[in-house]
Amino acid sequence: MKSTISEVSQCIGQEVTIGAWLSNKRSSGKIAFLQLRDGTGFIQGVVVKNEVEEEVFQKAKSLSQETSLYVTGIVREDARSPFGYELQVKDIQVIHEAVDYPITPKEHGTEFLMDHRHLWLRSRKQHAVMKIRNEIIRATYEFFNQKGFVKIDPPILTGSAPEGTTELFHTKYFDEDAYLSQSGQLYMEAAAMAFGKVFSFGPTFRAEKSKTRRHLIEFWMIEPEMAFYEHEDSLKLQEQYVSYIVQSVLKNCQLELGRLERDTSKLENVQAPFPRITYDEAIELLHEKGFQDIEWGEDFGAPHETAIAEHFEKPVFITHYPAKIKPFYMQPDPNRPEVVLCADLIAPEGYGEIIGGSERIHDYDLLKKRLEEFHLSLDAYQWYLDLRKYGSVPHSGFGLGLERTVAWISGVEHVRETIPFPRLLNRLYP
Ligand code: 4AD
Ligand code: MG
Repeated sequence: MKSTISEVSQCIGQEVTIGAWLSNKRSSGKIAFLQLRDGTGFIQGVVVKNEVEEEVFQKAKSLSQETSLYVTGIVREDARSPFGYELQVKDIQVIHEAVDYPITPKEHGTEFLMDHRHLWLRSRKQHAVMKIRNEIIRATYEFFNQKGFVKIDPPILTGSAPEGTTELFHTKYFDEDAYLSQSGQLYMEAAAMAFGKVFSFGPTFRAEKSKTRRHLIEFWMIEPEMAFYEHEDSLKLQEQYVSYIVQSVLKNCQLELGRLERDTSKLENVQAPFPRITYDEAIELLHEKGFQDIEWGEDFGAPHETAIAEHFEKPVFITHYPAKIKPFYMQPDPNRPEVVLCADLIAPEGYGEIIGGSERIHDYDLLKKRLEEFHLSLDAYQWYLDLRKYGSVPHSGFGLGLERTVAWISGVEHVRETIPFPRLLNRLYP
Protein backbone atom coordinates (compact mmCIF):
# COMPACT_ATOMS: atom_id res chain seq x y z
CA MET A 1 0.00 0.00 0.00
CA LYS A 2 1.33 3.43 -0.90
CA SER A 3 1.44 6.01 1.87
CA THR A 4 2.90 9.41 2.57
CA ILE A 5 4.85 10.13 5.73
CA SER A 6 2.09 12.36 7.08
CA GLU A 7 -0.38 9.47 6.73
CA VAL A 8 1.63 6.72 8.47
CA SER A 9 -0.23 7.26 11.75
CA GLN A 10 -3.16 5.48 10.10
CA CYS A 11 -0.99 2.49 9.13
CA ILE A 12 0.56 1.31 12.43
CA GLY A 13 1.75 -2.28 12.13
CA GLN A 14 1.06 -2.34 8.39
CA GLU A 15 3.43 -2.58 5.43
CA VAL A 16 3.58 0.60 3.36
CA THR A 17 5.61 1.92 0.44
CA ILE A 18 6.69 5.54 0.64
CA GLY A 19 8.20 7.60 -2.18
CA ALA A 20 10.95 9.61 -0.47
CA TRP A 21 14.34 11.27 -0.57
CA LEU A 22 17.24 10.41 1.69
CA SER A 23 18.11 13.49 3.73
CA ASN A 24 20.78 11.85 5.88
CA LYS A 25 21.94 8.45 7.10
CA ARG A 26 24.02 6.72 9.74
CA SER A 27 25.08 3.09 9.72
CA SER A 28 27.14 0.48 11.56
CA GLY A 29 27.94 -3.14 10.70
CA LYS A 30 24.51 -4.39 11.74
CA ILE A 31 22.06 -1.49 11.36
CA ALA A 32 21.42 1.52 9.13
CA PHE A 33 19.32 4.56 10.05
CA LEU A 34 17.86 6.37 7.05
CA GLN A 35 16.48 9.89 7.52
CA LEU A 36 13.69 10.05 4.96
CA ARG A 37 11.58 12.96 3.77
CA ASP A 38 8.77 13.07 1.24
CA GLY A 39 7.62 16.67 1.48
CA THR A 40 4.76 15.80 3.82
CA GLY A 41 7.12 15.04 6.69
CA PHE A 42 10.26 13.35 7.99
CA ILE A 43 10.60 9.80 9.28
CA GLN A 44 13.45 7.52 10.26
CA GLY A 45 13.79 4.22 8.42
CA VAL A 46 15.61 1.45 10.30
CA VAL A 47 17.33 -1.27 8.27
CA VAL A 48 18.49 -4.26 10.34
CA LYS A 49 21.04 -6.47 8.58
CA ASN A 50 19.58 -9.72 9.91
CA GLU A 51 16.04 -8.88 8.87
CA VAL A 52 16.53 -8.00 5.20
CA GLU A 53 18.20 -9.47 2.12
CA GLU A 54 21.95 -8.79 2.13
CA GLU A 55 21.56 -6.81 -1.09
CA VAL A 56 19.01 -4.48 0.54
CA PHE A 57 21.30 -3.82 3.52
CA GLN A 58 24.27 -3.06 1.22
CA LYS A 59 22.07 -0.72 -0.83
CA ALA A 60 20.95 1.10 2.32
CA LYS A 61 24.55 1.60 3.43
CA SER A 62 25.61 3.03 0.08
CA LEU A 63 22.74 5.48 -0.50
CA SER A 64 23.85 9.05 -1.18
CA GLN A 65 22.17 12.16 0.18
CA GLU A 66 19.03 13.26 -1.76
CA THR A 67 18.75 10.02 -3.70
CA SER A 68 15.09 9.38 -4.49
CA LEU A 69 13.66 5.98 -3.61
CA TYR A 70 10.68 3.84 -2.81
CA VAL A 71 11.02 2.43 0.68
CA THR A 72 8.84 -0.43 1.81
CA GLY A 73 8.51 -1.30 5.48
CA ILE A 74 6.33 -1.71 8.55
CA VAL A 75 5.14 1.38 10.44
CA ARG A 76 6.06 1.28 14.14
CA GLU A 77 5.20 3.68 16.91
CA ASP A 78 8.33 5.24 18.36
CA ALA A 79 8.13 7.32 21.52
CA ARG A 80 11.71 8.67 21.13
CA SER A 81 11.07 10.48 17.87
CA PRO A 82 9.31 13.87 17.93
CA PHE A 83 7.21 12.60 15.01
CA GLY A 84 6.14 9.50 16.96
CA TYR A 85 6.70 6.81 14.27
CA GLU A 86 9.46 5.00 12.45
CA LEU A 87 9.66 2.64 9.52
CA GLN A 88 11.10 -0.87 9.88
CA VAL A 89 12.51 -1.19 6.37
CA LYS A 90 12.04 -4.37 4.31
CA ASP A 91 12.97 -3.22 0.83
CA ILE A 92 14.49 -0.27 -1.02
CA GLN A 93 14.12 0.61 -4.66
CA VAL A 94 16.30 3.47 -5.91
CA ILE A 95 14.54 5.79 -8.37
CA HIS A 96 17.35 8.22 -9.07
CA GLU A 97 20.76 8.46 -7.47
CA ALA A 98 21.86 11.98 -6.44
CA VAL A 99 25.57 12.60 -6.84
CA ASP A 100 27.44 15.22 -4.75
CA TYR A 101 24.43 17.07 -3.33
CA PRO A 102 25.85 20.50 -2.53
CA ILE A 103 24.11 21.13 0.82
CA THR A 104 25.69 18.68 3.22
CA PRO A 105 24.87 18.31 6.93
CA LYS A 106 27.79 20.64 7.79
CA GLU A 107 27.35 24.42 8.24
CA HIS A 108 27.08 26.59 5.12
CA GLY A 109 27.16 30.39 4.75
CA THR A 110 23.96 32.29 4.00
CA GLU A 111 25.02 33.44 0.52
CA PHE A 112 25.83 29.87 -0.46
CA LEU A 113 22.47 28.68 0.84
CA MET A 114 20.65 31.51 -0.94
CA ASP A 115 22.41 30.63 -4.21
CA HIS A 116 21.07 27.10 -3.69
CA ARG A 117 17.63 28.18 -2.55
CA HIS A 118 16.02 25.73 -5.01
CA LEU A 119 17.61 22.91 -2.98
CA TRP A 120 17.78 24.58 0.43
CA LEU A 121 13.96 24.51 0.50
CA ARG A 122 14.26 20.77 1.15
CA SER A 123 15.94 21.23 4.53
CA ARG A 124 14.09 20.65 7.79
CA LYS A 125 14.19 24.22 9.00
CA GLN A 126 13.06 25.72 5.69
CA HIS A 127 10.36 23.09 5.45
CA ALA A 128 9.05 24.08 8.89
CA VAL A 129 8.97 27.79 8.01
CA MET A 130 7.07 27.16 4.75
CA LYS A 131 4.56 24.94 6.54
CA ILE A 132 3.93 27.73 9.03
CA ARG A 133 3.53 30.16 6.13
CA ASN A 134 1.01 27.78 4.60
CA GLU A 135 -0.92 27.51 7.89
CA ILE A 136 -1.11 31.31 8.15
CA ILE A 137 -2.53 31.46 4.61
CA ARG A 138 -5.02 28.69 5.38
CA ALA A 139 -6.13 30.36 8.62
CA THR A 140 -6.45 33.70 6.80
CA TYR A 141 -8.94 32.30 4.28
CA GLU A 142 -10.80 30.51 7.07
CA PHE A 143 -11.00 33.64 9.24
CA PHE A 144 -12.27 35.95 6.52
CA ASN A 145 -14.62 33.40 4.99
CA GLN A 146 -16.17 32.76 8.40
CA LYS A 147 -16.74 36.49 8.77
CA GLY A 148 -18.49 36.81 5.41
CA PHE A 149 -15.69 38.50 3.47
CA VAL A 150 -15.40 38.03 -0.30
CA LYS A 151 -11.94 37.38 -1.75
CA ILE A 152 -11.25 39.90 -4.52
CA ASP A 153 -8.14 39.99 -6.69
CA PRO A 154 -6.87 43.47 -7.53
CA PRO A 155 -4.72 43.97 -10.65
CA ILE A 156 -0.94 43.66 -10.54
CA LEU A 157 -0.25 45.96 -13.48
CA THR A 158 -1.44 49.42 -12.52
CA GLY A 159 -1.34 52.97 -13.79
CA SER A 160 -1.00 54.74 -10.43
CA ALA A 161 0.71 54.64 -7.05
CA PRO A 162 -1.26 54.26 -3.81
CA GLU A 163 1.66 54.52 -1.37
CA GLY A 164 3.79 57.27 -2.96
CA THR A 165 5.76 57.36 -6.16
CA THR A 166 9.35 56.70 -5.09
CA GLU A 167 9.15 52.92 -4.67
CA LEU A 168 7.53 51.89 -7.93
CA PHE A 169 8.68 49.32 -10.43
CA HIS A 170 8.19 50.85 -13.81
CA THR A 171 7.38 48.89 -16.94
CA LYS A 172 5.94 49.58 -20.38
CA TYR A 173 2.33 48.61 -21.07
CA PHE A 174 2.49 48.73 -24.85
CA ASP A 175 2.80 52.49 -25.41
CA GLU A 176 1.78 53.52 -21.90
CA ASP A 177 3.68 53.62 -18.63
CA ALA A 178 2.69 51.06 -16.03
CA TYR A 179 3.80 50.03 -12.56
CA LEU A 180 3.79 46.79 -10.65
CA SER A 181 1.30 46.98 -7.80
CA GLN A 182 2.66 48.24 -4.48
CA SER A 183 -0.77 47.73 -2.83
CA GLY A 184 -4.20 46.64 -4.04
CA GLN A 185 -5.90 48.96 -1.58
CA LEU A 186 -7.51 51.49 -3.93
CA TYR A 187 -9.10 48.69 -5.95
CA MET A 188 -10.19 46.98 -2.73
CA GLU A 189 -12.00 50.20 -1.77
CA ALA A 190 -13.97 49.96 -5.01
CA ALA A 191 -14.64 46.29 -4.24
CA ALA A 192 -15.84 47.12 -0.69
CA MET A 193 -18.45 49.45 -2.19
CA ALA A 194 -19.64 46.53 -4.32
CA PHE A 195 -19.33 43.60 -1.86
CA GLY A 196 -19.24 45.19 1.62
CA LYS A 197 -16.39 43.24 3.22
CA VAL A 198 -13.56 42.05 1.01
CA PHE A 199 -9.99 40.84 1.27
CA SER A 200 -7.18 40.29 -1.17
CA PHE A 201 -4.06 38.17 -1.00
CA GLY A 202 -1.43 38.81 -3.57
CA PRO A 203 2.09 39.86 -4.49
CA THR A 204 3.29 43.39 -3.91
CA PHE A 205 6.36 45.11 -5.33
CA ARG A 206 8.46 47.84 -3.73
CA ALA A 207 11.55 49.20 -5.44
CA GLU A 208 12.95 50.17 -2.03
CA LYS A 209 16.69 50.37 -1.64
CA SER A 210 16.38 48.86 1.85
CA LYS A 211 18.66 46.04 2.84
CA THR A 212 17.31 45.03 6.24
CA ARG A 213 16.01 41.85 7.81
CA ARG A 214 12.44 43.18 7.35
CA HIS A 215 12.48 44.21 3.69
CA LEU A 216 11.75 42.29 0.55
CA ILE A 217 11.40 43.75 -2.94
CA GLU A 218 8.55 41.35 -3.68
CA PHE A 219 6.30 40.34 -0.80
CA TRP A 220 2.76 39.09 -0.24
CA MET A 221 0.09 41.14 1.44
CA ILE A 222 -3.38 40.42 2.81
CA GLU A 223 -5.56 43.51 2.36
CA PRO A 224 -9.04 43.53 3.92
CA GLU A 225 -11.32 46.51 3.23
CA MET A 226 -14.67 47.07 4.94
CA ALA A 227 -17.57 49.38 4.09
CA PHE A 228 -19.22 51.06 7.11
CA TYR A 229 -16.20 50.27 9.32
CA GLU A 230 -14.74 53.14 11.30
CA HIS A 231 -11.18 53.15 12.60
CA GLU A 232 -12.17 51.49 15.90
CA ASP A 233 -14.06 48.68 14.12
CA SER A 234 -11.01 48.00 11.99
CA LEU A 235 -8.67 47.79 15.00
CA LYS A 236 -10.94 45.20 16.60
CA LEU A 237 -10.91 43.11 13.43
CA GLN A 238 -7.12 43.37 13.18
CA GLU A 239 -6.50 42.09 16.70
CA GLN A 240 -8.97 39.24 16.19
CA TYR A 241 -7.32 38.30 12.91
CA VAL A 242 -3.77 38.33 14.24
CA SER A 243 -4.81 36.34 17.33
CA TYR A 244 -6.56 33.84 15.08
CA ILE A 245 -3.54 33.13 12.90
CA VAL A 246 -1.18 32.85 15.88
CA GLN A 247 -3.52 30.45 17.70
CA SER A 248 -4.01 28.42 14.49
CA VAL A 249 -0.25 28.00 14.09
CA LEU A 250 0.06 26.98 17.75
CA LYS A 251 -2.68 24.41 17.25
CA ASN A 252 -1.63 22.95 13.90
CA CYS A 253 2.15 23.43 13.67
CA GLN A 254 3.53 22.09 16.98
CA LEU A 255 6.05 19.88 15.18
CA GLU A 256 7.31 22.76 13.05
CA LEU A 257 7.53 25.21 15.96
CA GLY A 258 9.49 22.55 17.87
CA ARG A 259 11.89 22.02 14.98
CA LEU A 260 12.50 25.79 14.90
CA GLU A 261 12.96 25.84 18.71
CA ARG A 262 10.39 28.62 18.92
CA ASP A 263 9.55 29.84 22.42
CA THR A 264 5.81 29.23 22.21
CA SER A 265 4.95 30.80 25.59
CA LYS A 266 5.38 34.20 23.94
CA LEU A 267 2.90 33.21 21.21
CA GLU A 268 0.33 31.81 23.63
CA ASN A 269 0.04 35.31 25.02
CA VAL A 270 -1.12 36.71 21.68
CA GLN A 271 -4.85 37.05 22.32
CA ALA A 272 -7.07 40.06 21.64
CA PRO A 273 -7.29 42.79 22.81
CA PHE A 274 -3.89 44.32 22.05
CA PRO A 275 -2.46 47.39 23.79
CA ARG A 276 -2.67 50.74 21.99
CA ILE A 277 -0.67 53.91 22.25
CA THR A 278 -0.95 57.08 20.24
CA TYR A 279 1.92 58.42 18.19
CA ASP A 280 2.25 61.23 20.77
CA GLU A 281 2.59 58.72 23.60
CA ALA A 282 5.06 56.71 21.55
CA ILE A 283 7.25 59.81 21.13
CA GLU A 284 7.14 60.37 24.91
CA LEU A 285 7.97 56.73 25.59
CA LEU A 286 10.93 56.93 23.21
CA HIS A 287 12.23 60.03 24.98
CA GLU A 288 12.00 58.18 28.31
CA LYS A 289 13.88 55.26 26.78
CA GLY A 290 16.78 57.46 25.76
CA PHE A 291 15.89 58.28 22.14
CA GLN A 292 16.23 62.02 22.78
CA ASP A 293 16.66 62.99 19.11
CA ILE A 294 13.32 61.93 17.70
CA GLU A 295 10.89 64.83 17.30
CA TRP A 296 7.15 65.02 16.72
CA GLY A 297 6.48 64.67 13.00
CA GLU A 298 9.29 62.20 12.26
CA ASP A 299 8.63 58.62 11.22
CA PHE A 300 9.86 55.73 13.36
CA GLY A 301 12.79 53.57 12.32
CA ALA A 302 13.41 49.93 13.22
CA PRO A 303 15.19 50.73 16.54
CA HIS A 304 12.29 52.94 17.63
CA GLU A 305 9.72 50.26 16.79
CA THR A 306 11.75 47.64 18.65
CA ALA A 307 12.05 49.85 21.74
CA ILE A 308 8.28 50.47 21.76
CA ALA A 309 7.51 46.76 21.21
CA GLU A 310 9.78 45.76 24.11
CA HIS A 311 7.57 47.74 26.41
CA PHE A 312 4.62 45.37 25.77
CA GLU A 313 4.00 41.62 25.97
CA LYS A 314 1.72 41.52 22.91
CA PRO A 315 1.66 43.22 19.52
CA VAL A 316 0.97 46.94 20.03
CA PHE A 317 -0.99 49.42 17.91
CA ILE A 318 0.53 52.85 17.39
CA THR A 319 -2.34 55.13 16.36
CA HIS A 320 -2.88 58.72 15.19
CA TYR A 321 0.30 59.46 13.23
CA PRO A 322 0.93 62.94 11.85
CA ALA A 323 -0.89 63.29 8.51
CA LYS A 324 2.23 64.55 6.78
CA ILE A 325 4.13 61.25 7.15
CA LYS A 326 1.23 59.07 5.95
CA PRO A 327 -0.36 58.58 2.49
CA PHE A 328 -2.96 60.96 1.01
CA TYR A 329 -6.01 58.73 1.52
CA MET A 330 -6.07 58.58 5.34
CA GLN A 331 -8.99 60.17 7.20
CA PRO A 332 -7.95 63.11 9.42
CA ASP A 333 -9.01 62.96 13.08
CA PRO A 334 -12.06 65.28 13.23
CA ASN A 335 -10.89 66.64 16.60
CA ARG A 336 -7.32 67.16 15.50
CA PRO A 337 -6.81 67.29 11.73
CA GLU A 338 -2.99 67.24 11.89
CA VAL A 339 -3.17 63.53 12.81
CA VAL A 340 -4.92 60.73 10.92
CA LEU A 341 -7.15 57.81 11.97
CA CYS A 342 -4.58 55.15 11.31
CA ALA A 343 -2.59 52.47 13.10
CA ASP A 344 0.54 50.45 12.59
CA LEU A 345 0.63 47.13 14.42
CA ILE A 346 4.11 46.41 15.79
CA ALA A 347 4.99 42.77 16.45
CA PRO A 348 6.86 41.79 19.63
CA GLU A 349 10.49 40.62 19.77
CA GLY A 350 11.85 43.14 17.29
CA TYR A 351 9.96 42.00 14.16
CA GLY A 352 8.61 45.48 13.47
CA GLU A 353 5.48 46.67 11.70
CA ILE A 354 3.31 43.81 10.45
CA ILE A 355 0.14 45.82 9.68
CA GLY A 356 -0.47 49.28 8.30
CA GLY A 357 -4.07 50.46 8.10
CA SER A 358 -6.47 53.38 8.41
CA GLU A 359 -9.92 54.78 7.95
CA ARG A 360 -10.12 56.24 4.42
CA ILE A 361 -11.27 59.72 3.45
CA HIS A 362 -14.83 59.40 2.19
CA ASP A 363 -15.58 63.05 1.49
CA TYR A 364 -15.14 63.98 -2.17
CA ASP A 365 -13.84 67.52 -1.66
CA LEU A 366 -11.39 66.58 1.04
CA LEU A 367 -9.98 63.71 -1.01
CA LYS A 368 -9.60 65.95 -4.04
CA LYS A 369 -7.77 68.51 -1.92
CA ARG A 370 -5.42 65.85 -0.55
CA LEU A 371 -4.64 64.54 -4.05
CA GLU A 372 -3.75 68.08 -5.11
CA GLU A 373 -1.56 68.60 -2.04
CA PHE A 374 0.31 65.40 -2.95
CA HIS A 375 0.67 66.57 -6.60
CA LEU A 376 -1.16 63.50 -7.87
CA SER A 377 -2.98 63.58 -11.19
CA LEU A 378 -6.74 64.01 -10.78
CA ASP A 379 -7.19 62.26 -14.11
CA ALA A 380 -5.42 59.12 -12.97
CA TYR A 381 -7.44 59.07 -9.74
CA GLN A 382 -10.82 59.99 -11.26
CA TRP A 383 -12.19 56.49 -10.81
CA TYR A 384 -11.07 56.54 -7.15
CA LEU A 385 -12.77 59.92 -6.64
CA ASP A 386 -15.92 58.46 -8.23
CA LEU A 387 -16.25 56.15 -5.21
CA ARG A 388 -16.87 59.34 -3.16
CA LYS A 389 -19.40 60.63 -5.66
CA TYR A 390 -21.92 57.81 -5.73
CA GLY A 391 -23.08 56.82 -2.25
CA SER A 392 -19.84 57.33 -0.35
CA VAL A 393 -19.65 55.65 3.10
CA PRO A 394 -17.10 55.58 5.92
CA HIS A 395 -14.77 52.65 5.34
CA SER A 396 -11.50 51.28 6.64
CA GLY A 397 -8.94 48.67 5.75
CA PHE A 398 -5.46 47.44 6.37
CA GLY A 399 -2.59 45.45 4.92
CA LEU A 400 -0.76 42.63 6.71
CA GLY A 401 2.69 41.74 5.41
CA LEU A 402 2.79 37.95 5.19
CA GLU A 403 6.56 37.47 5.37
CA ARG A 404 7.10 39.66 8.43
CA THR A 405 4.27 37.80 10.13
CA VAL A 406 5.80 34.43 9.23
CA ALA A 407 9.22 35.61 10.48
CA TRP A 408 7.76 36.68 13.81
CA ILE A 409 5.61 33.57 14.41
CA SER A 410 8.39 31.20 13.30
CA GLY A 411 11.04 33.14 15.17
CA VAL A 412 13.41 33.29 12.18
CA GLU A 413 15.75 36.24 12.07
CA HIS A 414 15.36 37.40 8.46
CA VAL A 415 12.39 37.64 6.05
CA ARG A 416 14.47 36.06 3.28
CA GLU A 417 13.75 32.65 4.86
CA THR A 418 9.98 33.18 4.93
CA ILE A 419 9.24 33.21 1.18
CA PRO A 420 10.17 30.36 -1.19
CA PHE A 421 12.24 32.47 -3.61
CA PRO A 422 13.08 35.84 -2.04
CA ARG A 423 13.61 38.93 -4.19
CA LEU A 424 16.14 41.09 -2.39
CA LEU A 425 18.09 44.23 -3.25
CA ASN A 426 20.98 42.11 -4.52
CA ARG A 427 19.15 38.93 -5.48
CA LEU A 428 16.94 37.92 -8.42
CA TYR A 429 18.32 34.37 -8.58
CA PRO A 430 17.35 31.56 -8.38
O1 4AD B 1 2.29 49.93 5.51
P1 4AD B 1 2.11 49.51 4.06
O2 4AD B 1 2.96 50.18 3.06
O3 4AD B 1 0.56 49.72 3.78
C1 4AD B 1 -0.07 49.63 2.57
O4 4AD B 1 0.43 49.26 1.54
C2 4AD B 1 -1.55 49.89 2.68
N1 4AD B 1 -2.03 50.30 1.37
C3 4AD B 1 -2.26 48.66 3.17
C4 4AD B 1 -3.74 48.86 3.28
O5 4AD B 1 -4.18 49.65 4.08
N2 4AD B 1 -4.51 48.13 2.50
O6 4AD B 1 2.34 47.95 3.96
C5 4AD B 1 1.56 47.04 4.73
C6 4AD B 1 2.43 45.96 5.35
C7 4AD B 1 3.47 46.49 6.34
O7 4AD B 1 2.92 46.66 7.61
C8 4AD B 1 4.49 45.35 6.31
O8 4AD B 1 4.06 44.27 7.12
C9 4AD B 1 4.44 44.90 4.87
O9 4AD B 1 3.20 45.32 4.34
N3 4AD B 1 5.55 45.48 4.10
C10 4AD B 1 6.65 44.79 3.73
N4 4AD B 1 7.03 43.51 3.94
C11 4AD B 1 8.20 43.10 3.42
N5 4AD B 1 9.02 43.90 2.69
C12 4AD B 1 8.69 45.19 2.45
N6 4AD B 1 9.49 45.95 1.70
C13 4AD B 1 7.46 45.68 2.98
N7 4AD B 1 6.82 46.88 2.92
C14 4AD B 1 5.67 46.73 3.61
MG1 MG C 1 3.41 51.04 6.76
